[in-house]
Amino acid sequence: MLKSIAVMTSGGDSPGMNACARAVVRTALYEGVEVWGINNGYHGLLDEDMYQMERKDVGDIIQRGGTFLGTARCKRWEKPEGRMLGYKNLVDRGIQGLVVIGGDGSLRGASLLSKETGLPIVGLPGTIDNDVWGTDYTIGCDTAANTIIDAINKLRDTASAHRRCIVLEVMGHRCGWLAMTAGIAGGAEYILVPEEEYDLESMCKDMEEAYKKGKRYILVVVAEGAGSAKDIGTYIAEHTNIDTRYSVLGHIQRGGSPTVIDRVKASQLGEQAALAIISGLSDVVFGFNKGHVVSINLHDAVNNKKKLDPEYAHLARVLF
Ligand code: F6P
Repeated sequence: MLKSIAVMTSGGDSPGMNACARAVVRTALYEGVEVWGINNGYHGLLDEDMYQMERKDVGDIIQRGGTFLGTARCKRWEKPEGRMLGYKNLVDRGIQGLVVIGGDGSLRGASLLSKETGLPIVGLPGTIDNDVWGTDYTIGCDTAANTIIDAINKLRDTASAHRRCIVLEVMGHRCGWLAMTAGIAGGAEYILVPEEEYDLESMCKDMEEAYKKGKRYILVVVAEGAGSAKDIGTYIAEHTNIDTRYSVLGHIQRGGSPTVIDRVKASQLGEQAALAIISGLSDVVFGFNKGHVVSINLHDAVNNKKKLDPEYAHLARVLF
């Protein structure tokens, strides 16, 4: 049984990271285990920016977006010397295990640290992209999808008023989950994702036909990994007679108070991670499969590419 653990958030922030870190901290303290918070991701490990936490340190944060611990993408961590220094800084404080909440890149950094030093590590998938292999869900994806739906609803109002086509670009890195789920939920006419080929020429022909039959607006949601809203909007404007605009939602998608789903799931994952690492488990990532918490091998999680559920693409085609 471990006596002292640490928790950090890393990579792009996501709504629910606070709920997750709170659950790790409170579960550890409940079990009588010392817990440290590391500020600003792997930077904090290297700069010795960490502190021993109490219950009150995670009060009043479950409802907040962002991460109270701070986060970063850390170039120094990519070098073995950086990782050895981080390990030394943990050992010097008697910290015996580490919980890393972050996306693909952050979990990759955790996987390397574990392989090189043998330090017990548990990962938790924290990213709006929902692109971590082995889990149906990543912390923050639900809030981000809801933010996108809000944008789609507003864009539809103005698109309909002007009989326009509007192309909305959303985040997701190289994954189309956010575009696909928010596009389906928001009733978008076209959803373009990196996992599926699309044909702009035939899209334009279909759009013109629809307009001739009286359609008032068209919404196209494009995942950033599948193309840019500007390029696609320009193509549509040049190849149809439809008045077209584009919009890039950007970092608005990363912020905001987490939804119920993100708060509860993040708390469940945080609790399981704390219990696992305290009991000496290592090299696992906790996620969800069909609604239940599951553990995935950390190295498998970072070495495999998650696929977009083909049923989503089928549903989008049926509902169009
Ligand atoms: O991984 C989360 C994410 O928001 C991606 O969707 C996006 O591609 C990227 O981070 C943006 O990164 P940054 O905040 O560093 O510009």
